[in-house]
Amino acid sequence: MYPLAFPEEDLVPLVRGLLADPGVVMSLVATIKGEIAGHVAFATCAVEGTNLAASLLGPLAVAPDYQRRGIGSALVHKGLEKLGDADVDVVFVLGDPAYYARLGFRQDSQVQPPYPLPAEWYVAWQSQYLGAATSAATGKLAVPSQWLDPALWAP
Ligand SMILES: CC(C)(COP(=O)(O)OP(=O)(O)OC[C@H]1O[C@@H](n2cnc3c(N)ncnc32)[C@H](O)[C@@H]1OP(=O)(O)O)[C@@H](O)C(=O)NCCC(=O)NCCS
Repeated sequence: MYPLAFPEEDLVPLVRGLLADPGVVMSLVATIKGEIAGHVAFATCAVEGTNLAASLLGPLAVAPDYQRRGIGSALVHKGLEKLGDADVDVVFVLGDPAYYARLGFRQDSQVQPPYPLPAEWYVAWQSQYLGAATSAATGKLAVPSQWLDPALWAP
């Protein structure tokens, strides 16, 4: 499904790496008639210098035949609900703000991603605070090893 959803980017090694590490990754799958229609991963992170429980959303993909039916949104909503129940304070994502703003994410210029982003991507770096954690943190996001690849953070 990933090569179909992302024909120009090979995210399969990242997804395999994340799935191999259930201790730090929450993975949700949407199925239709036994077929995988969508997938999202959330990885456990930390904001350096704070005691916030943080998570990084990604990747998110919906099979082309099933796009624009609410599956991506449902996967993200379910993930945020589970993370909130698990007392996660804040979730980060690097993605299209036109899509993620609808899901409650806002640009974050206080917490730095693990690698510097090109200026045109600043608006794509977003966060959403869950539950009672409302004061914005400052610092750098520490991500698990699967995300420590500069190629994943550059055009
Ligand atoms: C982006 C993606 C995960 C959204 O999942 P989805 O189940 O299709 O989206 P939803 O049905 O929850 O949301 C629909 C809204 O998202 C936007 N959207 C969804 N897919 C889109 C696409 N391919 N192009 C542009 N906008 C899209 C639209 O605004 C759409 O609303 P509309 O149909 O009323 O115009 C899915 O389309 C996908 O996998 N795309 C290819 C991979 C990708 O770009 N992933 C990047 C995530 S940052």
